[in-house]
Amino acid sequence: MKIKQINVHLSEEKIEARIKELGAQISAEYGDEPVCLICILKGSVFFTCELAKRITSPVEIEFMSVSSYGAGTSSSGVVKIVQDLSTSIEGKNVLVIEDIIDSGRTLNYLLQNLKTRNPKSLKLCTLLDKPERRVVEVAVDYVGFVIPDEFVVGYGLDYDQKYRNLPYIGFVEIEDEEGEASE
Ligand code: IMP
Ligand code: MG
Repeated sequence: MKIKQINVHLSEEKIEARIKELGAQISAEYGDEPVCLICILKGSVFFTCELAKRITSPVEIEFMSVSSYGAGTSSSGVVKIVQDLSTSIEGKNVLVIEDIIDSGRTLNYLLQNLKTRNPKSLKLCTLLDKPERRVVEVAVDYVGFVIPDEFVVGYGLDYDQKYRNLPYIGFVEIEDEEGEASE
């Protein structure tokens, strides 16, 4: 598959305005309670940085990397922890930061895993949500944008490890065999 074009869906300004709102909402809810943000590598890096700057509660940032095995652009449900947290989350308010929730398999597995480590509270914040694609139920506490069932790149999200650095989020237009474009 070759990418023909990337069509802007959410501009940098729009994304950052929404992140500011999420930051205010999270700050109001946690107040002076410390919150441990768990950034899910690599897709959530840009979102986590921008969001952390907008939270006024005391923040700690941790990283975790998971891979969901599957061909092409969907996950299989077999989730592997590639890089675990470097610290204990026992007794902490944990807020998992994800780039996108698609089938829900990755987060379903991850939340169950984190729950066994006895955090004080465990919540989930995602920049994007594709509810039409859900296979496994996931309780999402904070959502940046609900998007239709289309593959997106940018602002951390990749296509074959590329395009993460685009400052906006765009829909990918694929070139078919005959060179004609299709979404
Ligand atoms: P899930 O387990 O199906 O919910 O998969 C979530 C993961 O799939 C995300 O963390 C992304 O890495 C990837 N993913 C799902 N949809 C997209 C997309 O539209 N663009 C880029 N990555 C995606
Ligand atoms: Mg990915």
